[in-house]
Amino acid sequence: MTSDSYVTAAAGAAASTHVLIFPFPAQGHLNCMLQLAELLAAADIHVTFLNTEYNHRRLLRSSSGNSLPGRGPGPKVQFRAIADGLPDDRARSAARLLELDASLRARSSQAYRDLLVDLREGSGGRAPRVTCVIADGIMPFAIDIAEELGIPAMAFRTPSASSVWAYYCIPKLLQSGELPIPEGADLDEPIRGLPSFCREARSSDDPMLRFVAEVTAHSARARAFILNTCEHLEPSALSSIRARMPVTYAVGPLHALRSGSESAPARASLWREDRTCVAWLDGQPERSVVYVSFGSFAVMSRKQFLEFWRGLVGSGRRFLWVVRPDLIEEGGWTDEMESMIEGARDRDRARVVGWAPQREVLGHRAVGCFMTHSGWNSTLESMVEGVPMICWPFFADQQINSRFVSEVWRIGLDMKDTCERSTVERMVREAMEGDAADELRRSAKATAEAVRKSVEEGGSSFAAFQRLVQHIKSLARPN
Ligand code: UDX
Repeated sequence: MTSDSYVTAAAGAAASTHVLIFPFPAQGHLNCMLQLAELLAAADIHVTFLNTEYNHRRLLRSSSGNSLPGRGPGPKVQFRAIADGLPDDRARSAARLLELDASLRARSSQAYRDLLVDLREGSGGRAPRVTCVIADGIMPFAIDIAEELGIPAMAFRTPSASSVWAYYCIPKLLQSGELPIPEGADLDEPIRGLPSFCREARSSDDPMLRFVAEVTAHSARARAFILNTCEHLEPSALSSIRARMPVTYAVGPLHALRSGSESAPARASLWREDRTCVAWLDGQPERSVVYVSFGSFAVMSRKQFLEFWRGLVGSGRRFLWVVRPDLIEEGGWTDEMESMIEGARDRDRARVVGWAPQREVLGHRAVGCFMTHSGWNSTLESMVEGVPMICWPFFADQQINSRFVSEVWRIGLDMKDTCERSTVERMVREAMEGDAADELRRSAKATAEAVRKSVEEGGSSFAAFQRLVQHIKSLARPN
């Protein structure tokens, strides 16, 4: 069945349609799935957004309340929360991703099942009985349980289509012996954009490798696949995915899709945004500032931090750097680092904040380029604003994203694994001054225009979103 089959209007189903959205509990998953929730609510669909209790508390603490959906008179999204099964004082970091995954499978699935049974019977407050689940594709149990209870489930994946396609290929690469890569092999030859899971795996039993391959293969069991990308950016990856998963909706970038929603897109920050950096940017010349942020998961050593810092200072450019409280590995902070930051602040050359309103920063006229870890959300946000990128990919899908940014879309430079101060300095110069920078800016602008077109009326993502809405409404059982 193709997604077009669902275009037939499911008249009258709107009021009785209720979707439960369940993201994996991490920042890069919350943002885009909350944007999807808000868009579906604007399309007259009841939405329950399921958080973990730990994250829900953090969201309420860090947001002023007005960045979450359901804040205005418009459509509402109701929040529910279940425990993730880990003690409160345990870090939920990239290094512990598998621990969090195991805990969710073992300790949260019963609470999730109970909630679904409840919502299926119509005990969801003012909402009708739940008629569809959209679960993060990296949580196969969430899809299986919904289907077992007779509730149709769709899978949402947060990375790019190209990354998802790479994960699909892992079993084949293992079979052909191309994975794992032998110790000591030159990773630069011949493929440079391999996800970190593949690069670091030392055996075919590597837990991370098995995890991404398993969850990706499992997504094919869902009724549909939803991706935060657009046809213009990834036509060949999307067509490869559709050979396995015919009902695949490319609806991104979701933060720029405003189908029926009047308000600014939802923000779901686990850290409190420091808005003083916007006032600082207001005082800077046009395109003069390098915005530096390595997303929500990346962790760096003291040495790497110092190389970045000295490279940025050496470039002579002003910069705004998001240094999350957990960006530097444990025990890495020194007084020297504090005083360097203070010194730069005094000279008004640099600002360091713990968490920034990133989309607003990227849209600010003072920002000239974005030094990023190439998380997919960050990549899309930069793309929509037409800001060239300098990529220092950290893990997972990020190596693929940085490769596409530099070699396919040609809207940025890829530092790959290195971050010596001389490289940082050279990259900043190349991205900010001279003919190469002009060229990057031109193609970033052209890409921004094409991507924005996809999410406007008549664009491919806009149309895919309408089809998705019709598909969801067609699943509603008569109440
Ligand atoms: C990771 C993966 O790399 C990503 O590709 C995957 O899809 C989800 O998990 P993460 O490290 O969180 O993601 O990066 P990214 O996908 O870029 O998401 C970070 C989000 O946090 C972005 O939406 C960004 O706008 C937001 N952010 C970041 C802020 O709002 N403020 C900041 O200071 C930094």
